[in-house]
Amino acid sequence: MAAMIVLSGLTKRFGPLTAVDGVSFSVDRGEVLGFLGPNGSGKTTTMRMITGYLPPSAGSVVVCGHDVAAEPLAAQRLIGYLPEGAPLYGDMRTGAFLNFIAGARGMSGADKARRVGSIVERVEIGSVLHQPIDTLSKGFKRRVGLAQALLHDPEILILDEPTDGLDPNQKHQVRNLIRDMGHDKAIIISTHILEEMDAVCTRAAVIAKGRMVFDGTPNELEQRSAFHNSVSIRVKSELAPKLSADIGNVAGVARVEAGETVDGVTTILAIPADGRSIVRDVSERVGESGFAVEGLHAERGRLDEVFRQLTASQ
Ligand SMILES: Nc1ncnc2c1ncn2[C@@H]1O[C@H](COP(=O)(O)OP(=O)(O)OP(=O)(O)O)[C@@H](O)[C@H]1O
Ligand SMILES: [Mg+2]
Repeated sequence: MAAMIVLSGLTKRFGPLTAVDGVSFSVDRGEVLGFLGPNGSGKTTTMRMITGYLPPSAGSVVVCGHDVAAEPLAAQRLIGYLPEGAPLYGDMRTGAFLNFIAGARGMSGADKARRVGSIVERVEIGSVLHQPIDTLSKGFKRRVGLAQALLHDPEILILDEPTDGLDPNQKHQVRNLIRDMGHDKAIIISTHILEEMDAVCTRAAVIAKGRMVFDGTPNELEQRSAFHNSVSIRVKSELAPKLSADIGNVAGVARVEAGETVDGVTTILAIPADGRSIVRDVSERVGESGFAVEGLHAERGRLDEVFRQLTASQ
């Protein structure tokens, strides 16, 4: 089966600025693609083109066989879109707004009531149904936006920073919701929160200055980190220099760095020469050296460092 979302050479120019520059990727059912990039890198512009709200300067978007530029309405029926910022119609009350949107999407009667009720419960906005959207807190506005995007149970979800402004409990809840929905939909979320990649996404796409600089799994992204498979060891500070020297001699260890010291305990970090796992050899050496250590673990990689590396060189 063809992918549900296919971007080919998607490009947007605003006068002299090329905001999105030949972006191509596709998303299948069952995938949650995390779209990462610095401020102004073109994430929102790409999403607005995918959802048919902005015409591309070149290239195309096809969703479930419909070219978005040629058949925007057919495409939009399949898409739930959470735009950046607050929902439109801010002077409407939450409940009336959702009923209005449900009606506009062709729902009526008991079906409409059931659908609105179930979404209200899922994104936990029952307490603000009678409040005008403009008067809601930022997090609640976001949740109303999300409810609007999910109302017609679309096959495809395009969510522009879905957890922006949510408190930690709500972030957790919305991430679970997205992950669950990801099993039978095709989802793209943009985010600045790197831990969200691990928590929710099956794939990561990184964009910088309008260009794709990475397309792979979150795991592959972590493997790009210089700290991938490095081993961090917490040890009493007075033992740190001797232990660092010992570990520095283990085959496969490129270098050992001393990190922070807290309450007399120093963290030292052994970095592998070629990204291969060194945790077994390092812990063996720690054992042989007879040092009592406070903790030892292998790092998977540091997404923030990879992100800086990938996006700073552009
Ligand atoms: N309508 C427009 N007219 C002119 N320039 C625009 C327009 N919309 C976006 N841009 C520019 O295109 C570039 C990409 O913007 P976009 O909003 O897509 O970035 P983003 O990756 O979503 O950033 P953020 O992380 O801050 O949300 C920016 O330089 C922005 O100023
Ligand atoms: Mg944006």
